[in-house]
Amino acid sequence: MQKELQKVKIGLIGLGTVGSGVFKTLQNFDNIEISKIAVRDIKKHRNIQGLDLSLITDDPYEIVNSPDIDIVTEVIGGINPAFDLISTALKNGKHIVTANKELLAKHGKELFTLAQENNRVILYEAAIAGGIPLIMPIKTVLSGNRINKIEAILNGTTNYILTKMDLQNASYNDVLKEAQELGYAEADPTGDVEGYDAAYKITTLATIVFGKRVKLENVYREGITKIRSQDMKAANDLGYKIKLIASGKIDENGKADVRVHPMLVAKKSTLAHIDYVTNAVSLSGHPIGDITLSGPGAGEFPTASSVVGDILTLVSEIGKSDNILPMMHCKHTVDADVINISDTINKYYISISARNNIGVIGKIGTICADNHISLASIVQKCVSDDNTADITVITEPVKECDMQKAAELIKQDGNKINSLIRVQI
Ligand code: NAP
Ligand code: HSE
Repeated sequence: MQKELQKVKIGLIGLGTVGSGVFKTLQNFDNIEISKIAVRDIKKHRNIQGLDLSLITDDPYEIVNSPDIDIVTEVIGGINPAFDLISTALKNGKHIVTANKELLAKHGKELFTLAQENNRVILYEAAIAGGIPLIMPIKTVLSGNRINKIEAILNGTTNYILTKMDLQNASYNDVLKEAQELGYAEADPTGDVEGYDAAYKITTLATIVFGKRVKLENVYREGITKIRSQDMKAANDLGYKIKLIASGKIDENGKADVRVHPMLVAKKSTLAHIDYVTNAVSLSGHPIGDITLSGPGAGEFPTASSVVGDILTLVSEIGKSDNILPMMHCKHTVDADVINISDTINKYYISISARNNIGVIGKIGTICADNHISLASIVQKCVSDDNTADITVITEPVKECDMQKAAELIKQDGNKINSLIRVQI
């Protein structure tokens, strides 16, 4: 007689872009049963083949309190009620799969502690770079490395916008709308374009890579909303592309520098060639040297690939021991000492509109020199009918606080700073 297949039971909380992709992909696995699905609006029409409407509830607590469910998959996003749902599920002995980067960045410490106390695992491959396998490789095959530098493109929406503005001269608003329609953007796209989403992701990524907890409030953040098409053109002429870069560095004394901001990256660098929704994470360390992982960073199926991968990993381990997947547990106990942005060293691109008076370039040069800023180049391109000159400056590596002070003095001298963007060193 054929033995009946023991199915692992999944509760799916959320059936939007990611949840739909997870549901559709899980249809290919007959050892997994989706026992319940929670949504916000039970009446919403859902064009999903094979969806059994009797499984749908608008009470996600039915899932986290169900004694039958082994794994809770949370793909609703946000803090409330996701935090309480995951906490309740852990206390009820469920393993968790989540794509919720905001929740991990803000409440990772409490949730991983709770998981430890309840001997349960939280997997979150989809939360950092969509479809790119990243967390599992870092915690397993790369775990013998001491990684001291991360440079990454972690937000698909902004990379899509910047690429289309650069290559197709498209307008910011049109491309943002397109990214929303394609399912890349967050429910509120401010999170993407102002750099919050990338800041959540680098907070968690830097924490696991450096083995010290990075606090979100110590991560410097700047979005892409002030980037002008003129900056993109100027960057191209100078041999650069503009990307929203999430980065982390840790020095030999354990001081970390973790941030998100637009950056001019050299056209010859790997990240300059990461276009549209693609994400990429470059890691440098010993003994590996430099490695870049890249792939689709957002969207229904790439994200579902990571979520389903986490579910299958748990399914293959559940029941084997009391302490499954020890490599995936949270190991660090200390907080990272994070340097303030004003103490960091950067190169800068500055676009200035100045009155084209005699000595204008000399004055800008003097202000920079007085503030310990050495210039790599200063170019005056054109003078408009109203006698305004467009001046583009690239500095050598200088201290952020000196640059900010010089920028203020340049403004006080009657000039307009159109843009001040850091340049990859
Ligand atoms: P979404 O399309 O807005 O879907 C959210 C889903 O959650 C919807 O089905 C919604 O129900 C449901 N929901 C919201 N509040 C709920 C509540 N209180 N109780 C029950 N269900 C609730 O969002 P998404 O793009 O799939 O993103 C989900 C998560 O994945 C977020 O954490 C996001 O940051 C993350 N993520 C997204 C992507 C991506 O490319 N989209 C990539 C990586 C990670 P209704 O359908 O009834 O409205
Ligand atoms: N809104 C996010 C992005 C989804 O555009 O990258 C993937 O995390």
